[in-house]
Amino acid sequence: KGEGGVIWNDEMSSNMLDKRLRKVVQNYQAMNKYGVNLSKSEGGKRRQKRSGPELLCQLKEMAKITTLMPEMEPFKKFLWASQLPAQPLTSALGPFKTCAVVSSAGSLRNSGLGKEIDAHDAVVRFNAAPTMGFEKDVGSKTTVRLINSQVMASEDHHFLSSSLYSSGTLVAWDPAPFSSDLNEWYNKTDYPIFKQYQQYRKLHPQQPFYILHPSMEWQLWKRLQDNMAEPIQKNPPSSGLLGTVLMMSLCDVVHVYEFLPSRRRTELCHYYQNFKDIACTMGAYHPLLYEKNLVKRMNKGSDKDIYNHGRVTLPGFNTFNC
Ligand code: C5P
Repeated sequence: KGEGGVIWNDEMSSNMLDKRLRKVVQNYQAMNKYGVNLSKSEGGKRRQKRSGPELLCQLKEMAKITTLMPEMEPFKKFLWASQLPAQPLTSALGPFKTCAVVSSAGSLRNSGLGKEIDAHDAVVRFNAAPTMGFEKDVGSKTTVRLINSQVMASEDHHFLSSSLYSSGTLVAWDPAPFSSDLNEWYNKTDYPIFKQYQQYRKLHPQQPFYILHPSMEWQLWKRLQDNMAEPIQKNPPSSGLLGTVLMMSLCDVVHVYEFLPSRRRTELCHYYQNFKDIACTMGAYHPLLYEKNLVKRMNKGSDKDIYNHGRVTLPGFNTFNC
């Protein structure tokens, strides 16, 4: 319905959403839970539409992946800070030649992409997305699992005990205040990320486990807003975009699966659940619609790859000069 063809149109705007979703987006824009506050120079309307290569350069410039380390304030005064990895994530992991980012979209169901996904040197998955029982469609390799603080804290997910989280490197994030000030965040996390982190580390001391510095989510948010013609939700980007940018820092080539929906496009929220809601694909809380516009503009692959395989191809930051 009004979505401009069969594959993602890179100028999707909120007026292409149905009435209910449009209202939700408007509400989040008005709510501004995290205190988004743009300076005059940052807050203006998009001046020009940037090309794919220009967008890639913008991302490369901002995308310094920082993870919390024991000596950072305010953490260094807490005993548990010694549980944080001493090395930054980017020096402990990779570099990889090829990487797959597996969105959790319902359109992965019956995709048969499992073998193709597993053929990558590294695979990133999100939150509670399982592989067991879904190998044919999503593969079985997990190099990195990016999890949000809600999944870490919610009773339903059994984060501390479920084997779902025990393979690969864990990377956690939490929607932080826009200031990205670590003190402010520490006292005002969305969910108890630090409590859960400490518990998990006690139970699984051998598994590498990082926490993303919150500046990344808001820097990325600014790049999104800056490149869209309308105000976007004042909430952090989705795990899917965070994971994509993370892998662009670690890999030469990044394939993102079913972030831009293929011909299998569906109202099904996740491939591993039967819950239906188009908001999962189009965004509600997250500025997901705009994230997808940006990824579409940066895609180096063909529209056919998107249509048939839900596959986007992005170059690693190390493979191009700006
Ligand atoms: O729902 P969850 O955040 O765990 O899913 C992981 C990521 O996959 C999302 O953050 C989003 O970027 C992407 N996704 C999507 N379309 C869906 C479901 C998830 O693009 N229907």
